[in-house]
Amino acid sequence: MRHIVGAIIFIMLLSVFAWGVLNVDRLLPAQASAQALPIDQLFNLQFKVVAILFGLIMGLILYGVVFFRRKPGDVTDGPHITGNTPLEITWTVIPFALVIGLSLIGSHLLGDTLRIDPQALVINVTGQQWFWRFEYPEYGLTTDELYLPLNKQVLLKLSSTDVIHSFWVPEFRVKADAVPGIVNELRVTPTKLGEYSLICSEICGRGHAFMKSVVKVVSEQDFQAWIAERQVVTDDPVARGQKWVKQFGCLSCHSYDGSENIGPTFKGLYGKQQKLEDGTTIQVDDTYLIESIRYPGEDIVSGFSDIMPPDIAAGLTDEQIQDIIAYMASLK
Ligand code: CUA
Repeated sequence: MRHIVGAIIFIMLLSVFAWGVLNVDRLLPAQASAQALPIDQLFNLQFKVVAILFGLIMGLILYGVVFFRRKPGDVTDGPHITGNTPLEITWTVIPFALVIGLSLIGSHLLGDTLRIDPQALVINVTGQQWFWRFEYPEYGLTTDELYLPLNKQVLLKLSSTDVIHSFWVPEFRVKADAVPGIVNELRVTPTKLGEYSLICSEICGRGHAFMKSVVKVVSEQDFQAWIAERQVVTDDPVARGQKWVKQFGCLSCHSYDGSENIGPTFKGLYGKQQKLEDGTTIQVDDTYLIESIRYPGEDIVSGFSDIMPPDIAAGLTDEQIQDIIAYMASLK
């Protein structure tokens, strides 16, 4: 009797300890979307069950090790046990009920994360080696940062132009792959103002670890102001070019300040005598730059590899390329 009470107390202490260690609020980053709520609820519930199981299993083992050790000189066998029907029924029924119960709760909560708001703001998200592009069709806007209005559901339509990437903002909890050729949908309702990181969570090549974007959750007012500011068209080709190179992700491989990167830097590029892979030297002018943007696989600069996506310029107009060249020419 003394041992039963002692073991129960020990099991409870261990469970409470594990419960504290596995606290979701401590383990996970801030909870910043409506979809995060049911997910964290389920995590919490499962971790509590895990904590109790941990206490039960480790508690009985440790208690037995300490209080039922073999005494020195004791060489007798333990009693023979051939089975215990009530015990076997118990340890079959309880886990069965737990698994069924958790799956029911899980499917119910999954439904909560998928709930559709017909008023959702649609954003097309494109993954590309190695950057994210966001298109707001309602506003005719394409950007390299993801701005989201607070408490409004957004419907993210994910796709990719090359390999599989994966859209993941830990604070939103939900996650989906961006796969070439298909459109995956992900619904997020941001509930917390702030700045978060969008991380690519599918290994996608050399730049995978750096495939990050800023996600800002702002008030509806700030969101409208940001849209308005973004929609202003400037008549300065250099400023426009700077906008395009950001928007089309050029800067994820080419620096504008001379620093080393996957591709040649834009700084001082225009007008330069450039040594090519085939040993020839070429003067970097408009013709060469247009060719290199439209057909990246030709005239590779010496020391660099042919890894620029061949269809990178598919979405660029000739005018936009002219703007980009003007921008490059401004980087002396
Ligand atoms: Cu894109 Cu990893």
